[in-house]
Amino acid sequence: MKHLMSPLDFSVEELDRILDLANDIENHPEKYAHACAGKKLATLFYEPSTRTRLSFEAAMLNLGGSVLGFSSADSSSAAKGESVSDTIRVISCYADICAMRHPKEGAPMVAASKSSIPVINAGDGGHQHPTQTLTDLLTIRTLKGRLNDLTIGLCGDLKFGRTVHSLIHALVRYPNVRFILISPDELRVPSYIKENVLDKNHVPYQEVERLEDALPDLDLLYMTRVQKERFFNEEDYVRMKDFYILDKKKLELAPADMLVLHPLPRVNEISVEVDEDPRAVYFKQAQFGVYVRMALILTLLGIEI
Ligand code: CP
Repeated sequence: MKHLMSPLDFSVEELDRILDLANDIENHPEKYAHACAGKKLATLFYEPSTRTRLSFEAAMLNLGGSVLGFSSADSSSAAKGESVSDTIRVISCYADICAMRHPKEGAPMVAASKSSIPVINAGDGGHQHPTQTLTDLLTIRTLKGRLNDLTIGLCGDLKFGRTVHSLIHALVRYPNVRFILISPDELRVPSYIKENVLDKNHVPYQEVERLEDALPDLDLLYMTRVQKERFFNEEDYVRMKDFYILDKKKLELAPADMLVLHPLPRVNEISVEVDEDPRAVYFKQAQFGVYVRMALILTLLGIEI
């Protein structure tokens, strides 16, 4: 039985197969409409979510399966003190596969160690968000045509942003990828990722503070929000929250074929006027999240069409 804790749990070849399957699902949804008939997905969300939880649920419903779960710790027996280990043992009796989001780094890993069904990490604290990465890879590969030979700007809260951490882990495996890390000093990519992932894989990167300086060189700009929930005090968050705002004027500095991605939710970091620009693909990205989660569910359940 396979779980998904990190994008590295799949080889590049396995990831390619999942992305190919997601493209086929997008083009031929009817082929998959009953693929998971009789199967149940549990969504165990101890932290708020719109896209991840609902796209998982939409994915299972599109596959003809059913869903059950909770959307906050308060509405589960976690509020009475039940551990993640006990919860997953119980959920294993009710469902065939589960997606878990938790504020504590490593909680889905603990669940996987006690589970008799596949567990998917749907975001653990500031650590990893592998299904967002699958979504990002599918978006990039489909709209840009490749995952290699790319200069990628990652902008915003690179310290706490788990989507950024997972995406770096995944993309360093493709040839000729380089990163421009755009953040204020206090929100830089953690040194364990720079040393253990970027340096170790000899991936070139630059750290800059001004978005304007990076924009002309980019194939992709991946914007992120400042992660309010991970700050220790409100004052620091307020000082940082509007550090970057991508607007129409700044976008004039970018190449005509650069794509703008964002895992969403957006707060102020992309002005709504940018939404009309053909380079803004973040809502398409959210749609790709359904196809790739359908492909992931089929893969982890070992269902072939
Ligand atoms: N991108 C993402 O994880 O969004 P949600 O927090 O709404 O699930």
